[in-house]
Amino acid sequence: MRVVRTASELAEMLAAARAPGRRVGLVPTMGALHEGHLALIRAARAECDVCVVSIFVNPTQFAPGEDYERYPRREGDDLRAARAAGVDFAFVPPVEEMYPPGAATRVHVGELGEILEGASRPGHFAGVATVVARLFNLVRPDVAYFGRKDAQQVAVVRRMVADLAFPVTIATRPTVRDRDGLALSSRNAYLSPSERRTATALYRALTEARSRSGGDPVRAEAIMREVLTAEPNLQLDYARAVDPDGFGEPRPGGPVLLVVAACVGRTRLIDNMMLEGEP
Ligand code: PAJ
Repeated sequence: MRVVRTASELAEMLAAARAPGRRVGLVPTMGALHEGHLALIRAARAECDVCVVSIFVNPTQFAPGEDYERYPRREGDDLRAARAAGVDFAFVPPVEEMYPPGAATRVHVGELGEILEGASRPGHFAGVATVVARLFNLVRPDVAYFGRKDAQQVAVVRRMVADLAFPVTIATRPTVRDRDGLALSSRNAYLSPSERRTATALYRALTEARSRSGGDPVRAEAIMREVLTAEPNLQLDYARAVDPDGFGEPRPGGPVLLVVAACVGRTRLIDNMMLEGEP
């Protein structure tokens, strides 16, 4: 595995590795790698000839007052895990390499970037779309891998790829969970043992809504709220049943995605599940 820190070195390395018919797979991450990230890396490894992982804590996707400074940074462990998973190139740029002096452009993805997560985290999805667009241009992957854990992020990236004609296929993988159902997240490291137990309420809200709502989105929302507001140490942000593509009202008879966000202590957590069928 080569560790690459600059855009020019990355271009050079990839030019040598790229050849007709060889597929390049990219897994964008912010590091603190866990089994959720590794599932994406293994998929890229299995399906592509060249496997690139980026590790970059992207400042522009953190709203003021969020956890940019204290976000976990574990480069040594991450590089060991990436090497063990068969990554060819780990792209680990400093901030100046992703945002050159004077960088001013932002990619805004309209309404989809302003609702739910976008409403609670102003500027978040513009930061995500901007850094992902730059990564796509630097790596020029054939396939880029994203986790369904961040379902609205997947929708934002797909929208951007369609609107700006990026020549990349977006592939997704299911949410990887701990044994008690909590979705793996780099932010779980912030939770105290008692907060960790409280955090499982997100998973319970989703699974109870699936099993008790009879497939009715309105009833599902009520069940999720009931489960989450019963937790004294949890602040509910939203619990909604939405259309999985546009994140608006579900279409009658169409697929329904359940999405939840809540704070446990100072830690903001999100999760989601389909109302029916494969979770
Ligand atoms: P990060 O939170 O590090 O996540 C990197 C990728 O791993 C994302 O596609 C995310 O959805 C996926 N992932 C995280 N937890 C997962 C889980 N439990 N199961 C499956 N996949 C999981 O998402 C970001 O970074 C950033 O916004 C990024 C796209 C890198 C842009 O900065």
